[in-house]
This record gives sequence, structure tokens and C-alpha cells, in this order.
Amino acid sequence: MCGIVGYTGINQVAQPILKGLKKLEYRGYDSSGIYINNGSSDILVKATGGVDDLRDVIEKQKKDLTGTAGIAHTRWATHGGVNVDNAHPHMSEDGRFYLVHNGVIENFQELKEQYLQDVNFHSETDSEVAVQLIDKFVKDGFSTFDSIRMMISKLDGESAYSFLIMDRKEPDLIFVAKNKSPMLVGLSDEGNVVASDAIGVLDITHDFIELHDGEIAVVDKNKVDLFDKNGKQIQRESFHVDIDASDTDKGIYPYYMLKEIDEQAIVARNLSEYYFDNNDQIQNIDPNIIKAMNDADRFYIIAAGTSWHAGLVGKRFFEQWANKPVEVFISSEFAFDQPKLSEKPFFIFLTQSGETADSREALIKIKEQGYPTLTLSNVMNSTLTREADFALPLMAGPEIAVASTKAYTAQIIAQSILAHAIGNSKMNIREELANIAVYMQSIIDSKEIFQKIANDALKNQRSAFYIGRGLDADVSYEAALKLKEISYIQTEGFAAGELKHGTISLIENKTPVFAFITQSKTAGLVRGNISETAARGAKTIIISSEKNAKSGDAYVLPQIPEIFMALLSVIPAQLIAYYATIDRGLNVDRPRNLAKSVTVQ
Ligand code: G6P
Repeated sequence: MCGIVGYTGINQVAQPILKGLKKLEYRGYDSSGIYINNGSSDILVKATGGVDDLRDVIEKQKKDLTGTAGIAHTRWATHGGVNVDNAHPHMSEDGRFYLVHNGVIENFQELKEQYLQDVNFHSETDSEVAVQLIDKFVKDGFSTFDSIRMMISKLDGESAYSFLIMDRKEPDLIFVAKNKSPMLVGLSDEGNVVASDAIGVLDITHDFIELHDGEIAVVDKNKVDLFDKNGKQIQRESFHVDIDASDTDKGIYPYYMLKEIDEQAIVARNLSEYYFDNNDQIQNIDPNIIKAMNDADRFYIIAAGTSWHAGLVGKRFFEQWANKPVEVFISSEFAFDQPKLSEKPFFIFLTQSGETADSREALIKIKEQGYPTLTLSNVMNSTLTREADFALPLMAGPEIAVASTKAYTAQIIAQSILAHAIGNSKMNIREELANIAVYMQSIIDSKEIFQKIANDALKNQRSAFYIGRGLDADVSYEAALKLKEISYIQTEGFAAGELKHGTISLIENKTPVFAFITQSKTAGLVRGNISETAARGAKTIIISSEKNAKSGDAYVLPQIPEIFMALLSVIPAQLIAYYATIDRGLNVDRPRNLAKSVTVQ
């Protein structure tokens, strides 16, 4: 989290930097700031809020952002409240050094006390300590480069950081350092850029050099020097990112979330085309992955947030088609509370961004134990795809809205294809996916139904429930997360049978209770549970499948094999969350307190 862009070029950089920063706002949008380096100290502008707010301040203060090198940041607060002082870039006391930071410096208090007692701090952030330390070491007589290395060496080993640092005395250079937090250097004929996500600078370049943990890059307008942990210069080939810059635009849509919900049918087709050849045979899955999975006695799926919910669904494909026991873990729990593992475990990481710090921590610990790992991610070349033994793409295209939608369905489909590849689904998955894509589209085309449901059931509500059993319970967790994270309606997703063991006491007159009924085995039981809530005054809204439908159900989903129903049932929930949020006049894409790519633990 925290979006970072830097640019040192032959032309003016402020506008491309601000444009790039805008694209990275999904990484954090509490506050933002830019520093343009032309040897004068006054081109530092900071604002609370996102990039539009920053532009307003630039205009109001009539700031002249002339200059050919600069760095900028959009913040997701960790240490220190949301205010202009705590916004980045941070400046050293004498105004010589400027720094932006993504990550957390665990021992910043200790460093402050040990080295910086005489320094006047402008902010409460951990980040400012880094820039003041560099300044101190330079004053002690070290070069800027060596001072940066010394600063890094003082950080606690657990600290996650990516830094861009500028020195007024070397106005063309951007110093870059990274550990655990993502950072890429982009190359172009008109200069070089640095960004925490390629999406931010695709207008400038598609060619990038990745930085590994502990490395430092010195980026000039016409060259990039890369140094390993020991300060030894190293060479690394660049790689090409194959994303069209226009894929990251909203186009005709009012919000990215709606665009991304709409893209789900296309994503299903993309995955099918990528993983199946014209004869319905699997392609593009390394046979070594299949071998490693077949050799394992148990799969462990590790993920966070929506990806964890997709793992709960995916477990069923692996168990039923590949006949392997599967356990699904929340990354932040697994990393520090590892369960007793089977003899031959195989680890599957699900992650839209490929950068989630919690998941990466778990990956590091698993790798230390030498177990095989596979990452399924929407961003190939991301940290988790690079660091796992194997990686497979989700083919969903950039997902920008904080609330994940198409990545969830893509993860479910990708898991089904993988389970089919290693086991025997006894289905023509390519054909099933073709049907599913058509049905997804028909649900997406019924938007006004869900708009009305949201309006009728949720308009003035403080709380809501989603319930279901089995696979429908898994979708309930995701449906509840969607609704709560963007509309702020407190929503619980529940295994329907558990409701009566306590939570039913929360049901009041008109409390909305949504139920999924797509699993024949438990359809009758869920209907019983929903009646129990109705008897206590709940407003019940049932989303069922054709096979399990009854008159009075709010929406009946087309029938597909029950194991795939999550792919359809989640779409009404996504749309209901979207419209409930619109009804409240909130920004759908930017829920408060959240960020898309969570690179801190
Ligand atoms: C953040 C996002 C969620 C996402 C979770 C895991 O919290 O807001 O939408 O599900 O991170 O992200 P990942 O990129 O690992 O799937």
C-alpha cells in the first residue's frame, strides 16, 4: 500500500508523475504529496486526501512545479494520523533530502532515541526517521549513497520498506531502496521512472527492472545503476509488462468496481482460452506443477481477504476432483501459528496483487522449510509469483477497485482448471466455462433488479446478514465482505445453521437477511433457517438456483453444476453491495481506511 512514483527525465515531470500517482491511488488515498527537484527547496506540496486534492492545493498555492525530476506518494496511514505533516515526501531538517516510503519501520522509536535526539521532527511518522538518519550520516561525512546504505542497515530486519530519496545536490538522481515492499524501475528513452506498481507508469514505459530485497538502485535520466545488499554493482535484464494502459482506465463507467463486475464473463472466457487448447486439452500449465501436486498428500491454500474466500470455494474442486485433502488458511494466521503439516504438503498461494505482505510472510516461512509452492496471481512478475516455485496467471486484467470482484471469480475458475488438470472432473470444463460466461453476462445484464433489491432492503439499515450452507456459506462470507467494506453496513456472513447458536439474537424488525440456496443437499435446511429469522421480523431475500427455487425468491440463478454455483451467486451480491453504496452517496472505489494492495503486516 501507499502508491509511489518517481521520474527523472529530459522533459517536465510533474504532470506525468501526478497522472501516475492518480493511477496508484487505489493503494492508499489518505493524503498525498509531490516533490520536484530543481535544486530549490520550495517545490514540496502535500495535501490530505487524494491526488485531486493535491492538485487543488498546487493550484491554490500557485506552486510552480517546473523541473525534470521528482518523487510523489499517496499514503495509507500506519504511523501517525492523517494530516499534511504526516503526508510524504518527508524532508530532512535542513531541506537537503526528500524521501517517500512505503512500509513500516518497526524500530523507528529506538532509532529516534539513539541517533536523532537533537533533530526537530515535523511528523509522527516512522518514515521521517529514515530521511533524518540519512541527513545525519551525510553530516558525519559519508556520501549520500553510503548514508542510505547505513540508514537501511539500522532498520530492524523485519522492517518492510521501499524508499525513493532525492538529494538537492544531485537533482537528476533518484535513489531507490527496497525490502519486502514492491518497487520497479521503468526504462524509457525520455528518462527513467520508479513506481510501486507498473500500472502507474504504463503511459511512459512497459519495460521494467525488478528490485530484489535489500538492493539499491541509483536512477539517473539516462542510466540505472543497481547494487546488491553488499553494495556491489550488479546487472539485471529488464522485463516487458504486457498490459495496455487503457485497461487501467474506467472508460464509460462511473466506477472501476462496476467495470470490473461487468468484465467477469470476459475473464471466464480468457481463462478458458488460456488454459485449454482447441481440443479441450489443458495447456500452459507446467507439467512439473502437475507432478508436484500429484506427489503431495495434502494441499494448503494460503490467502487473505477475498482471495481467502476464493480458496474456501476452490478447496472443493481439489477435494472432489483431485481427491486430495485441502486446508485453507488466512495468511496472517498461518505465518505465525503454523499447524502441524502433513508429510508431503503442497502450498497454493492465492493473491490478486501478488504483493500482500501477510501472504508473503507465510511464503517465506514455507520456503524456509523447503516445501513446494505455487502462486496463482493476477500480476505475473509480482513478488509472490517470483518467489514461489511455480506461478500461474489469473488473466483477469488490472483490478483497480479496492473491493475485489473479478479476481474472486478468476481465482475460483483457475482453481477449478488446476484441479481438473491434476484430477478428473468428469466434465468438459471448457464447455462448462463457456456456459457460465453466458450466464454471468445474463446476471450482469439484470442490474436494475439488484439495484432495486439494494434500495428496498438496505437503504436505511445499519446491519445485514448473508447466510448459506456449504458452498453457499463460503459465498456468504464474500458477499458480506463486499457489502460491509464499501457501504459500511455492518454485515455478517454466516453458516446458516450457526445463526441459532447466538447470532440470531441480533435480528430485529426489518433486519435484512440474504440467503443463498444453490446446494440441493442443504436447500431445505437453509429455508428452515431463513424462516426462523423471518419469524423474528427479518426481511428475507433469497437468491436461489433454478433447481432449488421456490416462488417468492428474490432472484433465481441459472442452473449450472452445483460446484460452480459460487461463480454466479456472488454476482448479485457484488451488485447489491455496489448499489447500496451508491444509494449512500459514498465513493464505491475508495472505501475509507482501506487500500487495495496491502504491503504491510
Ligand atoms: C486487500 C484488498 C482485498 C484483498 C486482500 C488480499 O485487503 O482490499 O480486496 O482481497 O487485500 O489481496 P491479494 O492481492 O493478496 O488477493
